Amino acid sequence: MKQCQALVQEINEVSSYFYCLTLEEPYLAQTAQPGQFLHLRVGNGIAPLLRRPFSVAGTSPATGTIRLLFRRVGAGTELLSCLRKGDWLDCLGPLGTPFSAVGKDPAVLLAGGAGVAPLLFLGESMLNAGKNVHLFYGAADAKALLPVDRFLSPGVLIHFATEDGSVGEHGNLSDVFKLALDKGLAPGELFACGPLPLLRVLANENRRWVLPMQVSLEENMACGVGACQGCAVLIKKDGETLYKRVCREGPVFNSSEVVW
Ligand SMILES: Cc1cc2nc3c(=O)[nH]c(=O)nc-3n(C[C@H](O)[C@H](O)[C@H](O)COP(=O)(O)OP(=O)(O)OC[C@H]3O[C@@H](n4cnc5c(N)ncnc54)[C@H](O)[C@@H]3O)c2cc1C
Ligand code: FES
Repeated sequence: MKQCQALVQEINEVSSYFYCLTLEEPYLAQTAQPGQFLHLRVGNGIAPLLRRPFSVAGTSPATGTIRLLFRRVGAGTELLSCLRKGDWLDCLGPLGTPFSAVGKDPAVLLAGGAGVAPLLFLGESMLNAGKNVHLFYGAADAKALLPVDRFLSPGVLIHFATEDGSVGEHGNLSDVFKLALDKGLAPGELFACGPLPLLRVLANENRRWVLPMQVSLEENMACGVGACQGCAVLIKKDGETLYKRVCREGPVFNSSEVVW
């Protein structure tokens, strides 16, 4: 992990409120692993005081570039969306503990909303390692979906779910995934990221499916490096319940260990 200045190579609005930011910073591009994140200083002034965390959505070690996908939701992401090619961005990273592949095929990625970002990086790296990968990606409607096929090589099987039925299957992500299981999909392992209620439902259902399942959690962060305890969540392990830091021991946890 290091603090570095990354050069903005490209920034585009890719769908409503979603931006794709490509940064040139060879160290980050060569060291970041799927599931890890960068802590960004989004402005040069006093506010916002705290850095903002964003998952790494992809890297290109050969060109020394790293990709982030972010949704504009408040002051920090508003500032980020105003970056232009040639600007410099203060980054801390790569941070956090990455996903670890257990090795069973096919891997199923379950993504809600902006939670798709780390799973795109994971899907791409698993595909390159010769795995079969399915991505289930859900959002409220067509407008809220990212054009994920732009960020994945052909080979990852993408299943869309929208709550208004405007794209893909009609329904929420967990129902659409359950339907696929009923139709015979037999995942070897699950990886999920998205809003907490979705992760809670999936973790609860997984008590029946009993599949290896890793989740990437989001918590408000201050330091991002394990010093302030501001991002602690309850984890139960070996009969003990204790706090773990999302920025340090996470953001990726075994779903059966999270106290939902
Ligand atoms: C490990 C980690 C990885 C993340 N990766 C991504 C990513 O790849 N892409 C992305 O778009 N976002 C990601 N986030 C969320 C992102 O950090 C926040 O959206 C961002 O910090 C908001 O900053 P802001 O100043 O624009 O909004 P703020 O002014 O801080 O908040 C504006 C509104 O957004 C809500 N909000 C803030 N954070 C979150 C959150 N985590 N989830 C839901 N609502 C939130 C607030 O409650 C408030 O209503 C990640 C968060 C974590 C912890
Ligand atoms: S944000 Fe400070 S310990 Fe995690």
